[in-house]
Amino acid sequence: MKQKEDFDTYYRNIWQERWDALKSAFAGEPGYCTLEEGLLKPYFLDKASTYPAQALDVQKGDTVLDLCAAPGGKTLILALAKGEAGVLVANDKSADRRIRLKTVIKEHLPVSIAATVQVTGYDAATWGLYQKDMYDRVLLDAPCSSERHVLSSPYYLAQWTPARTKQLAIRQFAMLAAALDAAKAGGRIVYSTCSISPLENDGVVEKLFKKRKGLFDIVELEPELGEKTKYGIQILPDTAGAGPIYYCCLEKRHG
Ligand SMILES: C[S@@+](CC[C@H](N)C(=O)[O-])C[C@H]1O[C@@H](n2cnc3c(N)ncnc32)[C@H](O)[C@@H]1O
Repeated sequence: MKQKEDFDTYYRNIWQERWDALKSAFAGEPGYCTLEEGLLKPYFLDKASTYPAQALDVQKGDTVLDLCAAPGGKTLILALAKGEAGVLVANDKSADRRIRLKTVIKEHLPVSIAATVQVTGYDAATWGLYQKDMYDRVLLDAPCSSERHVLSSPYYLAQWTPARTKQLAIRQFAMLAAALDAAKAGGRIVYSTCSISPLENDGVVEKLFKKRKGLFDIVELEPELGEKTKYGIQILPDTAGAGPIYYCCLEKRHG
């Protein structure tokens, strides 16, 4: 199948001799962990997914925006950190996925915390037009190439083209610019994807540096798991036994 060969060639060019190890790690089981403490019942997710949510460093009573929230694993982490005070807006454009998100919130969060979570269905890319300088913390866990998923699905592999990652990077940039607009001065923004395409990771942050120069700084994080990239941290399954996840933490400047 041509797409399979094109996909393989595209990622081999990027990852070189590491590509074979990554590909075989993708075929294995994700590195699941269980969120339990503070929840009504356990929630299972890839351990790597917990890191971007924790990097947001949500404080009790914060005003938090989760721009692409469904199905909601990271929303649970943010909601527990925020506690009963403050507000968490959990947004997702997909109506079907919002149903799942609402169920996850209802079944897992204590009522006193669930009552402070609002589920909305807007386009993340235009959020900053309506609410500027509002949030202490913004998570953008963006839709991405999800190569692990593509490799395991003949349906998605058949649709893959090299143009896809470029198109996604354009959308992700629009969403990240909106996330920056939505944050308060001094507020923190975490950008994350489960892609291994550099265009969708550091490439998006690089573009933000060019287009929103002087408006934000990178927050340097020491990776407990994973490896540093130019701007963020990438957790890859061949070495970390979890992921892939990329995340980068920004702080919006004052003035
Ligand atoms: C990587 S998933 C989010 C996973 C979620 N944060 C979690 O931890 O469970 C990306 C989500 O973005 C949503 N999405 C895609 N395009 C969007 C847009 N333009 N605005 C808001 N949400 C969007 C998708 O429906 C999908 O649920």
